[in-house]
Amino acid sequence: MKHSPVKSSPPAIDLEDYNLFRRCLIQYGESELFTDTEEWLSHDNPYRRTLRPHVFKHLDYSRPLRREDLLTYNSLSANRTLLTIYEQDFVLLPDRDFEAKQTDFKEFYSNRSIALGAVVRPWLERYLFSFLDKEISITGGWTADTLKAYFQDFADSLRRSASNKAMEAILASSNREHAARTFLIQLAGDFLLEASAMGRNILGHYGPLQSELFKIVIDEYGYGVHETKHSTLFRKVLSAGGLAQTPHAYWQFYLTSSLLVNNYYNWLGRDHTKFFRYLGAIFQAETTFIHSCARMAEMMRAVFGREVDVRYFTEHVHIDHHHSRMVFEKLIAPALATHGEGIIPEILRGFEEAALLGQLAEQDFCDQVSWSDDNQALKALHPPIHAKILSGELQPSRQQFIEPRGELSVTHVHDGDELCHINSGVMHFVTGHERHTVLNAGEGIVIRRNRLHGAIIDSEQCTYTIHSIGDHRKCLSSASTHAL
Ligand SMILES: [Fe+2]
Ligand SMILES: [Fe+2]
Ligand SMILES: [Fe+2]
Repeated sequence: MKHSPVKSSPPAIDLEDYNLFRRCLIQYGESELFTDTEEWLSHDNPYRRTLRPHVFKHLDYSRPLRREDLLTYNSLSANRTLLTIYEQDFVLLPDRDFEAKQTDFKEFYSNRSIALGAVVRPWLERYLFSFLDKEISITGGWTADTLKAYFQDFADSLRRSASNKAMEAILASSNREHAARTFLIQLAGDFLLEASAMGRNILGHYGPLQSELFKIVIDEYGYGVHETKHSTLFRKVLSAGGLAQTPHAYWQFYLTSSLLVNNYYNWLGRDHTKFFRYLGAIFQAETTFIHSCARMAEMMRAVFGREVDVRYFTEHVHIDHHHSRMVFEKLIAPALATHGEGIIPEILRGFEEAALLGQLAEQDFCDQVSWSDDNQALKALHPPIHAKILSGELQPSRQQFIEPRGELSVTHVHDGDELCHINSGVMHFVTGHERHTVLNAGEGIVIRRNRLHGAIIDSEQCTYTIHSIGDHRKCLSSASTHAL
């Protein structure tokens, strides 16, 4: 006898209802933990992470993000929120002063927050990751042999090409230490919780594969020896770079794409229908990491001196040789033998998605390095554009702000270029951890679209105007008219 699902009418909860999602998102944001802060860093408190929740009511997540919009404000906000929801599954404790943070601890793991997050999460996942379905299509008749040959080719090609765009950007930066720190900060979001997303696939009952995956997790956790746990080794790298070592100290300085990559692995690990996709993704990650870690170790020595502790990177050059091989021989090949070649498209999809997201993150990082380096040049573009606004040749929409000393604008991005103009007072325009450009009265700067920035006021009061200029290059060209 067949049992059809019992339908309650009306449904107790309609998870497809956008308005329900929206209301839950706004309510999720109504927590002390997520409000704006007056400090750039979060000091040893893994529960506090600003989400700019006052903006939630203005954001539209009803249609999935397109690839060209991946670095918009909507995306940054969705990524910050989604990572917070994912990490409510993990045990996070501060290094010290737990008692003072106990209220935050209870709030972070509260039933209220978890329940709201459960409604919000699938919407944000759909919003952020649906573009991958369009970007990547898996075609052709694949077999276990052709898959093996394809993956082998990939590993060989990495061995041949020694270039790494992110490392080149750091070494070519006018402020190499800052660029290197910005890079370490991006890694920290993931590496201080290293293998937590992987741990999501450890529980259950799925035969020898489970034990093989467990071996990789044990390696990541240093066989229970805390000093050799990968996240402990990464703390030493952070210390070598002069950075704080507690999770999410630099929450405000994560780029959208870094959050996206971190969320991607959590997404695959959390949704067990994507288990085979996860295998493809970690094969890609473990194999790529062998080579990028060698480059990262060289970069760290070049920037911070030969003496710095880069065991994290050198250890990965070694261990990820094994992990890459283990993922293929002990996970992917046996999975194909047991579960059939029908799982190949999912494995390939994970492999290609992880590669694409890695490339996007690399480009975003390089663009942020240039953006920080170019700030003086972008400041020099202010006078000609502002003159056109004053003369009426350009008529962009504008918003004026009056802020007191110490007022901090939490880092964010804009979806088009903006011109910041200081009417009175002094602003420190911030483009990264401990990096800013001073803007005095009468001065200003072009804020490029998608580039992370924040600000802090350094006078009794500051009045400034933000002009939404769209594309600054068009504003500079003589052909520009009243089109704005
Ligand atoms: Fe590792
Ligand atoms: Fe590994
Ligand atoms: Fe801004």
